[in-house]
Amino acid sequence: MAEMKEISPNAPAAAKLLNWVDNRFPLSKLYNEHMAEYYAPKNFNFWYIFGSLAMLVLVIQIVTGIFLVMHYKPDAALAFGSVEYIMRDVPWGWLIRYMHSTGASAFFVVVYLHMFRGLLYGSYRKPRELVWVFGCGIFLCLMAEAFMGYLLPWGQMSYWGAQVIVNLFAAIPFVGPDLALLIRGDFVVGDATLNRFFSFHVIAVPLVLLGLVVAHIIALHEVGSNNPDGVEIKGPGAPKDAKGHPLDGIPFHPYYTVHDIFGVSVFLMVFTAIIFFAPEFGGYFLEYNNFIPADPFKTPLHIAPVWYFTPFYSMLRAVTSEMMYALIACVLAGAGFGMFKAKLPAFLKPIVGVVALAVIAMMWTIDAKFWGVVAMGGGVVILFFLPWLDNSPVKSIRYRPDWHKYMYAAFAIDFLVLGYLGMLPPSEIGGRVSQLGTLFYFGFFILMPWWSALGKAKPVPARVIFSAH
Ligand code: HEM
Repeated sequence: MAEMKEISPNAPAAAKLLNWVDNRFPLSKLYNEHMAEYYAPKNFNFWYIFGSLAMLVLVIQIVTGIFLVMHYKPDAALAFGSVEYIMRDVPWGWLIRYMHSTGASAFFVVVYLHMFRGLLYGSYRKPRELVWVFGCGIFLCLMAEAFMGYLLPWGQMSYWGAQVIVNLFAAIPFVGPDLALLIRGDFVVGDATLNRFFSFHVIAVPLVLLGLVVAHIIALHEVGSNNPDGVEIKGPGAPKDAKGHPLDGIPFHPYYTVHDIFGVSVFLMVFTAIIFFAPEFGGYFLEYNNFIPADPFKTPLHIAPVWYFTPFYSMLRAVTSEMMYALIACVLAGAGFGMFKAKLPAFLKPIVGVVALAVIAMMWTIDAKFWGVVAMGGGVVILFFLPWLDNSPVKSIRYRPDWHKYMYAAFAIDFLVLGYLGMLPPSEIGGRVSQLGTLFYFGFFILMPWWSALGKAKPVPARVIFSAH
């Protein structure tokens, strides 16, 4: 047992209480380690706001979710009506519901920007690989959470969106149809599906999500934050003051608490403006078809997922049987490169050839729909590997060759175009563009070990660059 700290009998009551707690629970220690004495780089810019905003939105979702559950009925016969009841009869119910539905979109806006920041400044690289990997786990959970939450209002889009996505699992060879049945709990999306999605949305996924967020922050505070220069402020060679604090760091509290309060205020202005003036956001945040009760006998003309899923949905639709030829050509080119150009040990080369042939045989025999599902899932899974794909000698985009900036800009535009196309009904030209976009998306990551090392990096300063403004 740790030694009890004594406090003067004349100390104020609050100090005595804190001492009593500290002797039993490391309250001051936690506060100091993560706030008052947590040194963060002094050159953070606005990109560093989104982590705190993600935490804020997480809290908003949990609190509004708790109140929604008080009036919502997870029953196929009652669900739609119970949401209407919340909107019309429950005091302030409309506000709680719109906060939750707008909050879902806000979560993705914030998280996408947060991830893009990581990409720009190489925040996923050593020693922050686990921060990134936990982040990707969070992203997966968020997608599952949003997908299952969308079924709950039991509107037309809830119903048919779930029907389309769950049916995708049926494309998996051998186990697919049974898996789809297991997920639905019925032969079509029905009451059983609604009940299990409710249970996952309300308790199972949020628990995992919270655990991952805690792991994300613990991992981050273990290694310390990166910054826009990608220069380590806490490493062995970093300059420190007499007390051992990094010279390029400032205590999180009060500097970044104030910085974050400012960011939170701006965010809340935009967030509340949307809630009060455009909660459906032109059909992007809440689709108009979802104000019609689910009807298993009436398929809507155009079924599109909510905007945050559409880049990945485009990848799914891009994989047609024609696209399979392009993919097979890519596998052949990749295997040829591996066998004849890459510096691989000789014994690995025939293995590369055999694996490529096996993959091509599978591509030839298994339906394009399945590979579409693989592309859609692969688009998310590939993010986990980013720390091991980037070979650039420097972390931050600031010190990379200029053309890397164009690469990242092209990647961002590609992602937005895929997102836009995923919202539209299928078309000849849209299909072609999403095929190119999908190839670029995967090419960006798969070829990264090669292109990230090309070009001449600029000299990285020894200390972070900061000018007070
Ligand atoms: C609920 C969702 C999330 C929450 C609450 C959250 C929270 C945070 C917070 C508070 C920080 C420190 C402040 C900052 O750097 O902005 C941070 C840093 C970071 N997060 Fe997240 N995060 C979330 C999702 C993600 C996702 C999805 C990824 C990536 C896939 C990610 C990757 C990172 C990285 C790499 C850092 C370190 C950034 C740096 O030091 O430059 N996070 N996160």
